[in-house]
Amino acid sequence: MNWHQVQNYLLQLVQHDDPVLTEMEALARKTNFPIVDRAVGQCCYLLARLAKVRSVFEMGSGFGYSTAWFAMAVRDNGGGVVHHVVWDEKLSQQAREFLDRMGLTPFVRFTVGEAVTTLRTMPGQFGCIFLDIDKEQYPEAVAVAKERLTVGGLLIMDNALMHGEIFGDRNPRAIAVRKATEMVCQDPSFVATLLPIRDGLLVAMKVQ
Ligand SMILES: C[S@@+](CC[C@H](N)C(=O)[O-])C[C@H]1O[C@@H](n2cnc3c(N)ncnc32)[C@H](O)[C@@H]1O
Repeated sequence: MNWHQVQNYLLQLVQHDDPVLTEMEALARKTNFPIVDRAVGQCCYLLARLAKVRSVFEMGSGFGYSTAWFAMAVRDNGGGVVHHVVWDEKLSQQAREFLDRMGLTPFVRFTVGEAVTTLRTMPGQFGCIFLDIDKEQYPEAVAVAKERLTVGGLLIMDNALMHGEIFGDRNPRAIAVRKATEMVCQDPSFVATLLPIRDGLLVAMKVQ
């Protein structure tokens, strides 16, 4: 058994038949745009359902693929809001179109802006914060996210493995990801684990 076999197997286990999600996956492949894959998407959906999350703040939403999985979870939890936040107007517009076609826009609010600043200035607490922005910003984002999560809320951080680069000492982006991971795992406010799905998903619950 090797890493690729396991990852392919995890992908095969997720059999969604949503044509818009499939179109988004094809667009990501065609344009080489880094979305989470369907195994991570379904994992986010499952976690948000288990925690009965009604408010999600996404940091780095792209054209809305991960947003779609969170919005489906919020919808199926009885309603709420997912904040789609990205600094690129075109991506925000693309996301509006995809999510509208999925009937999910009643559950999504769109903000074009820098994600850490937007989180700092947006009022309220969140049941889940999903972190997928530029990797150098992860430590700063974790510090802000900790303050804005409800107790019992979830912090989910993508790219926790950086395709193995976290095991080296050269890549400043990987060093920042490792620092953010340590901040979460060594903080008694969180109970955390790293799920080795795709590029590694750090999942933490704020317990105090
Ligand atoms: C990895 S992609 C997001 C993919 C998305 N989470 C998904 O799986 O569908 C990250 C996106 O966030 C944008 N981004 C990176 N850092 C950001 C920041 N600090 N604030 C807002 N957007 C950011 C990038 O330009 C890119 O469009």
